Amino acid sequence: MPGLFGESLAFGGDYNPEQWDPAVWQEDDTLMRRAGVNLATVGVFSWALLEPEPGRYEFAWLDDQLDRLHANGVRVDLATPTASPPPWFTLAHPEAMPVTADGVRLTHGSRDTYCLAAPAYRRAAVGIATALAERYGAHPAVVMWHVHNEYATICHCEQSAAAFRRWLRARHGGLDALNWAWGTAFWSQRYTAWEQVGTPRATQWHHNPGQTLDFSRFWSDLALDAYREQRDAVRARSDRPVTTNLMLPGYQNLDLWAFGREVDFVGIDHYPDAPGADSHADIAFGADRARSFGGGKPWLLIEQGSNTVYRPGLTLPREPGDILRSSLGHIARGSDGALFFQWRQSRAGAEMWHSAMVPHAGPDTRIFREVEQTGAALARLGELAGSTVSAPQVAVLWDADAWWALTAAGKPSAELDYLGTVRRAHRMVWDAGVTVAFAHPEDDLSGYRAVLAPSLYLVSDVGADSLRRYAEGGGTLLVQYFSGVVDSRHQVRTGGHPGAFRELLGLRVEEHRPLAPGAVAELSDGSSGTVWSEDLRAEGAEVLASYLGGAVGGKPGGALAGKPAVTRHRFGAGSGWYLSTRLDDAGYAALLARVLAEAGVEPTVPGQPAGVDAVRRHSGSLSWLFVLNHGETPARLPTVRGQELLTGTAVPAGGLTVAPGGVAVVREPVSSA
Ligand code: GAL
Repeated sequence: MPGLFGESLAFGGDYNPEQWDPAVWQEDDTLMRRAGVNLATVGVFSWALLEPEPGRYEFAWLDDQLDRLHANGVRVDLATPTASPPPWFTLAHPEAMPVTADGVRLTHGSRDTYCLAAPAYRRAAVGIATALAERYGAHPAVVMWHVHNEYATICHCEQSAAAFRRWLRARHGGLDALNWAWGTAFWSQRYTAWEQVGTPRATQWHHNPGQTLDFSRFWSDLALDAYREQRDAVRARSDRPVTTNLMLPGYQNLDLWAFGREVDFVGIDHYPDAPGADSHADIAFGADRARSFGGGKPWLLIEQGSNTVYRPGLTLPREPGDILRSSLGHIARGSDGALFFQWRQSRAGAEMWHSAMVPHAGPDTRIFREVEQTGAALARLGELAGSTVSAPQVAVLWDADAWWALTAAGKPSAELDYLGTVRRAHRMVWDAGVTVAFAHPEDDLSGYRAVLAPSLYLVSDVGADSLRRYAEGGGTLLVQYFSGVVDSRHQVRTGGHPGAFRELLGLRVEEHRPLAPGAVAELSDGSSGTVWSEDLRAEGAEVLASYLGGAVGGKPGGALAGKPAVTRHRFGAGSGWYLSTRLDDAGYAALLARVLAEAGVEPTVPGQPAGVDAVRRHSGSLSWLFVLNHGETPARLPTVRGQELLTGTAVPAGGLTVAPGGVAVVREPVSSA
């Protein structure tokens, strides 16, 4: 099966020729050829140029740019420019500017200043998308559509509040049901008319957690509606695939599973926030999610930085070799290419210091040489287009509702961190050399040997049943602390925690006992926990480790002394493991190793050395092994055989050796079995 881009992987980035003049365009043509660029994302922030006044379009410049790119062999990912409405729009429609939770109405001056619930914005957005699709729907250069850019802005204006009320009526029916779901008997919050219900604007103390959860769901649905509206306008005029670039950040405003169902293929932007091996673990974390959210659809890395790691207040450079290694980190996990933000580093504007493929210093630079090297490498991997990642045996559960619910104020510990906990579980399995998929709790999980539920604070009844069926049918499930405790309305499942999983796990938690910062709970197996502990009674589960203490300092004799901390319960043909604290790294790795061993999960390559990332893609009888060495010593993999594609040489009889920081992509011998 061909890939998204036929027999090639995509290589290129955001291209903003409107920031430059014809002499630079000529140089762009030359440098793109040199670097092997074959895809450019055009028009993401071009609304003010394309529609200089309402309804009057100026397409001549874009015609020229698309024709020029096409003549140069560069395909186009054409964006609808709706993430940044022009200044005239702001003046004409002040009511379409977003209002913050504090009630401040924002104005033009940056980007993403729009309210998705404002009819004027939605009309204008569909208008420009329609005009673009009419003009370029069949343009030979255009191979895909990129609707909008990173749906992110949230608004608390009156139009949003009205749309929220409509959404709530559809979800809950009447006000009585809403009052019940949100528990408005508490703090005298009972609503007696719909007009009283608003968005969770700034208030005196904690918001109602049912309200904040529903608002997050509503906003994600609204963004999806806005996406669908543009997608459908484009689809009516073009047969090229349509997607949007999803940002995978540390905040959470979209249900990415829902977007995955509506896009023709998944597109993500990914910017690691830590250097070194952590950045490669984060790439794996992002790429594994991107692949999973589409449920088998292709996916594409639409943006990455060439040379940047963002820390708050600090942009760190990346190390030599990282451009290729990071790009392959995504491609190994199924991306149909590697794109960057952006082609040429801007000389003006808000992101003039953001890295690019052609830096301010020009092509005679390490960065551009590495870009050329990466383009040449990807050109050698065209045969991989259309192949898929070989079925992962381990799934980590991901649920937007659980994240949103856990974010509500008033939890027993501010250190209960959805993203951090899920990321850590993924990292541990990554460290063990095992490829991970993400799954939604309501999915059919029977294809996975092991499933991890690291932070499933909220689980729906359907999700709880699904996990039960999974374990009963022979699966190995690891549930971690403070999971399964509330239902989909955000109400506690009473009678002992974790209400959704008591029977499956064969235990009952009477009391949550969060640990103070710095406090450590020692466990009987030599490991230790921080952040959280629980007063747990085994009701059928086998105790694998118990608390020695549990009071501050973790001294034996605390309230938890001798009580279970880690358990395993045989359930049907499978098992439910439970971890009631945040284990130290070594203890957590050892527990996961036990879980994976019981489930019969093996690393991608037997005996895979630490620091080596190995992932397999396949297509029919062919398979390719990606080996990325993130470690500081040469990695030797004696069992690997085949043809290494980047160097075009056969792997020697003694196996594959990959230098520190090096990469290899091996077409494996077709097995005769
Ligand atoms: C992305 C965005 C780009 C650019 C990039 C670099 O999130 O889509 O337009 O801003 O980040 O910061």
